[in-house]
Amino acid sequence: HGRGVGSAVSDVEEGSERVLRSGRWFDGDGVRSFSHRARTRQLGFLPEEHAGKPVIAVVNTWSDINPCHQHLRERAEAVKRGVWQAGGFPLEFPVATLSETFQKPTPMLYRNLLAMETEELLRSYPVDGAVLLGGCDKTTPALLMGAASAGLPAIFVPAGPMLRGHWRGQTLGSGTDMWKYWDEKRAGRIGEREISELEAGLARSPGTCMTMGTASTMTSAAEALGITMPGAAAIPAVDSAHSRMAAAAGLRVVELVRTGTTPADILTRDAFEDAITTVLALGGSTNAVIHLIAMAGRCGITLTLEDFDRIARTVPVLADIRPGGRFLMEDFYYAGGLPGLLARLGDTHLHLDRPTVACRSLREQLAGALVHDDEVIRPLQRPVAEQGGLAVLRGNLAPDGAVIKHISAEPHLLQHTGRAVVFDDYPSMQQRINDPDLAITPDDVLVLRGSGPLGGPGMPEYGMLPIPDYLLKQGVTDMVRLSDARMSGTSYGACVLHIAPESHVGGPLALVNTGDTITLDVPARRLHLNVPDAELHRRRQAWQPPPPRYERGFGALYEEHITQADTGCDFTFLSRPGHVPEPHTS
Ligand code: FES
Ligand code: MG
Repeated sequence: HGRGVGSAVSDVEEGSERVLRSGRWFDGDGVRSFSHRARTRQLGFLPEEHAGKPVIAVVNTWSDINPCHQHLRERAEAVKRGVWQAGGFPLEFPVATLSETFQKPTPMLYRNLLAMETEELLRSYPVDGAVLLGGCDKTTPALLMGAASAGLPAIFVPAGPMLRGHWRGQTLGSGTDMWKYWDEKRAGRIGEREISELEAGLARSPGTCMTMGTASTMTSAAEALGITMPGAAAIPAVDSAHSRMAAAAGLRVVELVRTGTTPADILTRDAFEDAITTVLALGGSTNAVIHLIAMAGRCGITLTLEDFDRIARTVPVLADIRPGGRFLMEDFYYAGGLPGLLARLGDTHLHLDRPTVACRSLREQLAGALVHDDEVIRPLQRPVAEQGGLAVLRGNLAPDGAVIKHISAEPHLLQHTGRAVVFDDYPSMQQRINDPDLAITPDDVLVLRGSGPLGGPGMPEYGMLPIPDYLLKQGVTDMVRLSDARMSGTSYGACVLHIAPESHVGGPLALVNTGDTITLDVPARRLHLNVPDAELHRRRQAWQPPPPRYERGFGALYEEHITQADTGCDFTFLSRPGHVPEPHTS
């Protein structure tokens, strides 16, 4: 007794019908169906408004605490408008918000929690398809991981970047210029008045960070995967085009339900390789490495660090966006946005004959896409850099790999040997970094451990270790820095990140002593601790594993199941293959 939805405009053959999942809640003669219909009357809906229509969950990460998602309450209404007009029945589902700026110790601790929440809500309620609203850093991978695991038709609506920051006639980038001007204050070059003006100018509209930080990197990756409406990622949050894009997603998702198009049809290996290519061509955030590996894992696709390094050697950086470049997301939008960039990458670098949620093929989707500013989006012949912005390093200090975004480092540091100055954790680094007794020189290698997925916990964005004040005052702007942490997409410098295994589980990073020398050789993809094996063995025997941090709660679940950075930091029980049974409607 499932209901079908015929569609004259879909790819479904005429006369054929698709059984709606939500029919298992609403249809039939049983008392449960009667109850579900009665409760829908209680919601205030007439039978004529929803009976037989696909139920579309509008999964919303809006919250008062998340400035990047301020506008998503209104955008949900635009999505619903589209859903109604296409003959669907929209219902909004508020889910956890992961606010990059406010949540301690880091929203990364909770990415998998939001993914679980998304998956289980979609599974346990009468839902036929979903529109996912998010964009602040971890919300994008979390929502997409959950939707991929739930396996229902889904479209992602990126929150969109905030407007350019502004201060005393200068354009400001969120994140990037926060670090920069904080260093200016520490160096005594600006004072309280400037700081209070900067507070008002750094982030001056709703929307996600408008540099190529993790947010824009991941929403662009989502668009490249083909799970957003065309051009969605670069539309500024407050532009009217953003509301129209949200409505278009609502219209389109109903069609995906009618054709039975699920994330599995879109999120293929080719799509993930194109997402990697896109991130590299954007000079995007290193966080994408972890998130894309985890997202692919949910689709049964094994992405490795080597996939990133291999693709990085062939893909030029085309987007000149801060922190690596000069412009901001607003400029990128006016220059043609992601469709312009993808069109330039074209057949040389992308798989254009794969489907997207909006079109039969990416090729069709990109037809007519133009670039309007060759400075913001460079032609292939005149790239910002010949090679992608990422290298994967290995060596006795990182047997399972480490990453560096070398385009944002000072070139003379990319082949460098220096004395290690080791900090066991972030608080002790903060306490001691300016201690003159450490006598840190610009040639030293700053090492931070205890900051990985378990050690952090949550692998916080500590990777851009501060340069000591006394060196800053001498004009030192970059140093080699190593950690098992992540780095904010808006940060920069010669920072080796994601060292795996992390020190907390006894990775070699745990065995480094101040005074050892470390060699970084990015062209050779090498990270080496210059200590003999026998000595390392002796240190390993003496090493004591730290006690568990959590005795109960989500932290304990996290500690028991989190994987290391090189495999995406998903939970073991979420990333394994298998099928979750359809719930009983009783
Ligand atoms: Fe939300 Fe940067 S803080 S995107
Ligand atoms: Mg960030």
